[in-house]
Amino acid sequence: MKVLVTGGAGFIGSNLALELQNKGYEVIVLDDFSSGHFKNLIGFEGDVIAESILNVDLNRFKDVDVIYHQAAITDTTVQDQKLMMQINTEGFRRFLDFAVENDIKFIYASSAATYGNAPAPQKEDDAGKPNNIYGFSKWICDCIAKKYMERFPEAHIVGLRYFNVFGPREQYKGKMASMVWQLAKQMVDGKRPRIFKWGEQKRDQVYVKDVVKANLLAMDAKKSCIVNVGSGKAVTFNYIIEVLNKVLGFDYEPEYFDNPYKEFYQDYTEADLTKAKECLGYKPEWSFEEAVKDYSISEHHTN
Ligand SMILES: NC(=O)c1ccc[n+]([C@@H]2O[C@H](COP(=O)([O-])OP(=O)(O)OC[C@H]3O[C@@H](n4cnc5c(N)ncnc54)[C@H](O)[C@@H]3O)[C@@H](O)[C@H]2O)c1
Repeated sequence: MKVLVTGGAGFIGSNLALELQNKGYEVIVLDDFSSGHFKNLIGFEGDVIAESILNVDLNRFKDVDVIYHQAAITDTTVQDQKLMMQINTEGFRRFLDFAVENDIKFIYASSAATYGNAPAPQKEDDAGKPNNIYGFSKWICDCIAKKYMERFPEAHIVGLRYFNVFGPREQYKGKMASMVWQLAKQMVDGKRPRIFKWGEQKRDQVYVKDVVKANLLAMDAKKSCIVNVGSGKAVTFNYIIEVLNKVLGFDYEPEYFDNPYKEFYQDYTEADLTKAKECLGYKPEWSFEEAVKDYSISEHHTN
């Protein structure tokens, strides 16, 4: 079986490409290296095509069986609306259309950013009020995907709404790496971890190994669907620091500061996983603490 991973030099894409390779698939990575890094692909032995999703010749992928579409602008602070929509939504549409036309399974990365401030636990039908252009670009991908699902009932289309993903190979995202990584880095650098007052905001932090598992399950989804991919159990920022202290052997008190983004800030995200279980058989395997332990022994932590 031949699989294409767009955005395969990025954080999630590289974890996915390497796991697919381990499982014996022939893997092609397509990435323009705008936020990805070759070091994420050390150990990868497949093909790498350094082109943009907007203009690569799609005929090169006619013989693939599955497309995992991860490529996107992932810097959620980018304000250029046209650029965000062209890459995230038009790039997506190009690959979705090609996949459906050529009977290729299409599995893509959506986001919990499509929920905006919808109350937790977020269910799939609660999406549609994103707070920024990044969330909007992903929301419109979901709307387009739904139309294709209706028009082409025989197609295999799965959208995965990732919550806050953390784990090995995220460090090249820099300021866009997860809060788990940012806080661990501050502590390893000898600084107190800085969080918004008073650290009780809750986020669904999901380990990248669970996200990869959801992607593998999506290959055999019972039907086309758009589902949440999270841990299903939100944790507070205070708890993240408590676990990091314990696992990394520190004893830092958090340093609290005022949240300047209060009106747009998602105070509480937690994935309702009912639909993911029903459609994919997805059940997260990693508790937050076990995931942090696994992550911290990995060579990819904060170097
Ligand atoms: N990390 C998270 O917490 C999270 C949460 C929700 C959704 N997502 C989604 O998951 C996917 C992967 O995100 P990530 O965290 O691995 O980020 P990432 O930035 O590490 O990966 C994105 C990859 O896409 C590539 N890319 C960007 N524009 C491209 C283009 N025009 N052509 C080809 N390649 C291009 C980048 O170079 C990068 O390697 C994205 O679609 C993102 O929106 C991530």
